[in-house]
Amino acid sequence: MIQKYQYGNPIETEAVVTEISLSHGTLPFFQTTNENRTFSYGLSEEDIVYGLGEQVRGINKRGWKYQSFNFDNPNHEEDTQSLYGAHNFLLISGKELFGVFFDYGGMVEFDVGFTDHSVLQVTLESADCMIYMITGETEREIVKQFRSIIGQSYIAPKWAFGYGQSRWGYRTEEDVRAIADKHAEYGIPLDSIYLDIDYMERYKDFTVDPTRFSDLKQLQSDMLARGIHLVPIIDAGVRIEEGYDVYEEGVQNDYFCKDAEGKDFVGAVWPGKVHFPDFMKSETRNWFGEKYQILLDMGIDGFWNDMNEPAIFYTEKHLDDVMQRINDLSQQNMGVNEFFEFKGLVEGISNRREDYDSFYHEIDGEKVVHSKVHNLYGYQMTRAASEGFDRLVPDKRILMFSRASYIGAHRFGGIWQGDNKSWWSHLLMNLQMLPSLNMAGFLFNGADTCGFGSQTTEDLVMRWLQLSIFTPLMRNHSALGTREQELYQFANVADTKKMIEIRYGLIPYIYSEYMKAVLNGDMMFQPLGFVFREDDMARNVEDQLLLGDELMITPIYQQNAQGRYVYLPEEMMLVRMRGLEDLETQILPKGHHYVPAKCNELIFFIRNGKKIPLVQSADNTTSLDTNRLCFLGWNDATYALYEDDGISKSCNLEQNLRTV
Ligand code: GLC
Repeated sequence: MIQKYQYGNPIETEAVVTEISLSHGTLPFFQTTNENRTFSYGLSEEDIVYGLGEQVRGINKRGWKYQSFNFDNPNHEEDTQSLYGAHNFLLISGKELFGVFFDYGGMVEFDVGFTDHSVLQVTLESADCMIYMITGETEREIVKQFRSIIGQSYIAPKWAFGYGQSRWGYRTEEDVRAIADKHAEYGIPLDSIYLDIDYMERYKDFTVDPTRFSDLKQLQSDMLARGIHLVPIIDAGVRIEEGYDVYEEGVQNDYFCKDAEGKDFVGAVWPGKVHFPDFMKSETRNWFGEKYQILLDMGIDGFWNDMNEPAIFYTEKHLDDVMQRINDLSQQNMGVNEFFEFKGLVEGISNRREDYDSFYHEIDGEKVVHSKVHNLYGYQMTRAASEGFDRLVPDKRILMFSRASYIGAHRFGGIWQGDNKSWWSHLLMNLQMLPSLNMAGFLFNGADTCGFGSQTTEDLVMRWLQLSIFTPLMRNHSALGTREQELYQFANVADTKKMIEIRYGLIPYIYSEYMKAVLNGDMMFQPLGFVFREDDMARNVEDQLLLGDELMITPIYQQNAQGRYVYLPEEMMLVRMRGLEDLETQILPKGHHYVPAKCNELIFFIRNGKKIPLVQSADNTTSLDTNRLCFLGWNDATYALYEDDGISKSCNLEQNLRTV
């Protein structure tokens, strides 16, 4: 059952697409205080709090405080409170069982037993929101109800399930060709190469640098002939530059966000000084969406939308103030207090709350301060792109994923989990986010495999691949200045190549599970407690997940570990794979096990009585021969395989499912 409650005058987020009549009684479960801004629920000892989508910490969110306020934080750690997405859906399981969605585009604070372990307290910045309360028999069923009201998740093209190679630092057409050649030389399958900001002319959206990429259309066509798709980045900020069409059209037609005086707001990001398109206006969305045409016309069929929290490196006004103060300080004898003031001034320049309070959107003719709708910005940018694709290429799926998001954006694109680090803790975080992202509708997702910032290592590359093998987006991406991390940069390339081949072998299964989850409004990755509901041990497992109804994934996320402890809530089949044809299986009984797994060994489990399809690996997804499946698991089992052409938009579950 779904109940909808209204507080104050909420700004429409369009997260929920189903008409639901308002309930007028009191909000169940929660105490409402603080002039309807704070909602408190008493947690019992056994309660587990799931959800919050892209967030730090565990599958069970209990014991920390989180903030929904999309934030560019490449250095996130355990202490962090907000990341790139805002997904205000919680599912509480224990004494009671219910889901709750706080539909509010501004800042929300979730104190999940941080101040008091037995209290969940949600505080909104203003008392204007919609709250959806969902009850049901099981966790999975509650999620399905929620997903049914927020609309069907975005469907990525099948090629996007292939391996992708990316790095901020590929500067020229020659760099791109060299990446393709190297993968071919080592025989590593590859479906996509990502173009980061350097393909553009002075980081201007919808331009291509004429010297470094003299013929992008030709390059894309040459790559496509080898089964590789180029995927360029598009940033939120539009460079201020006379004669640049996107800038000039934006100014002429009032498409940009305004400052307090009504002038186009100026921030600085990669291109230098920029204006931010006002994606809250449908005119702006329509205009921006059409701009993708220039790249679509070159045969491009995938994009990633970035910096759309929006990230602001600095604003002119604040930078002037900081410079002035530093100037004052430099005239004085610098004591320790002045030193720390100086340090703080410099460190606090980017992504300031004051900056988000200083520009405005136009929503239904009204001026609305950005911070009130901050979490909707990246969502509306993704929507602009997706609706543009619907008009420009109505029959073809286009790959689209975004950095910033809000629930609702899942209908228009996928997400990647933003800038992470080549840290073992971020590998575990990647796993722990998967079910909470699925709850919020984000099925097409993945983290920067092997880590974006910081220096990766041979073993981290290997272990991270062993998780990413199962996620819809499998993209190796790294930051400028870090160690180069294409697989052939490491001595263990023969082993990592085998992991990529295993991925390709699993694509029929992974794609099928993804599509079933999209079309059934279901989860692809579930915590163990969603299925083994009466098993307290299973309910508290934080580092294993169920994938579909067939698999349990158990990645290794500690350096030098030669295996790991695994909890089996039922008898299962252990699969240990060094390559697609180099594998062993063993049936293990319910209970605790230590499972050895050397660095070159992938381990996972097949659930009792189930099987999964496997296929021979190939150079890319289009060359996979899915007519020749083999199976792994219990012999007498059947599997419901979803297959389609992977590119057209109409996807019918009944027509495309077959029992194998
Ligand atoms: C941001 C993105 C990252 C990209 C970089 C340069 O940090 O999150 O993926 O490589 O900008 O464009």
